[in-house]
Amino acid sequence: MAQLIDGKALSLSLKEEMKGRIAGIEKEFGRKPCLAVIIVGDNPASRSYVRGKIKAAEFVGMDSRLVELPEDVSEERLIAEIAQLNEDEGVDGILVQLPLPKHIDEDRIIDAISLDKDVDGFHPGNVAKLWLGRPCTVPCTPKGIMAMIESTGTGISGKKAVVVGRSNIVGKPVAKLLLDKNATVTIAHSRTANLADTCREADILVAAVGRPEMITADMIKPGAIVIDVGINRVSCTAADGTTTFRLVGDVDFKSATEVAGYITPVPGGVGPMTITMLMQNTIECFLRRIN
Ligand code: GUN
Repeated sequence: MAQLIDGKALSLSLKEEMKGRIAGIEKEFGRKPCLAVIIVGDNPASRSYVRGKIKAAEFVGMDSRLVELPEDVSEERLIAEIAQLNEDEGVDGILVQLPLPKHIDEDRIIDAISLDKDVDGFHPGNVAKLWLGRPCTVPCTPKGIMAMIESTGTGISGKKAVVVGRSNIVGKPVAKLLLDKNATVTIAHSRTANLADTCREADILVAAVGRPEMITADMIKPGAIVIDVGINRVSCTAADGTTTFRLVGDVDFKSATEVAGYITPVPGGVGPMTITMLMQNTIECFLRRIN
């Protein structure tokens, strides 16, 4: 039976630590770090994530600003909002919640965020630095994943890591962070031949595909560390015809837990760690700007 990597508990202890750091920062520099979050439209999942980010900022004692724009906002207006936050000396981090409506070019928006306020680490300048091995803002979800793997106390060096998913937000950056820790890394994806065989070789398996419960016990090496990045809402229809929704990951938790050595739950795993790393990135951006 796998040991649970409790992202919620780990997050809480990191956020408690941050409270003290932020109080110290305010004493030393006369102001707190400030995170600005822009949300476009009414996507319920995005709204819920943004609420979580603002709540976490409040919890650690950080300032925050929430900019809410309508679904039909123009690209120019969104860029103007970002430009204003770029210029604002009181703002240390800017996050534009993704995905954006189809009429907006996400690349243009990410490029518009000042490199030194890019708390997501999505700006091409940060991505280039990450791959060059230079100091940079590391994307929040990959950073949280690494903290969770490291929390197990089992070393990464020399291990075989398989990342399923090749997104810019998770798959590619987490592969680079694992490589930096001397893992031998495979990036697998929907077209990988014999995906189950590839996954079964992994000492560290990161599932970031966005397909509910697709990683099953037979794809997991006994004792492996399994990190589930998926947050999928699936509907369940009861015998009486009522439909409810439940959150599941990309890993079939029930069967996987019988085989894995360590596993992250959904919810309460990677999600809270992503938000906590966003707080950490905002503090880091503050310190880089002020020094
Ligand atoms: N949408 C899903 N994950 C993220 C994230 O980490 N940052 C932003 N800005 N949008 C997201």
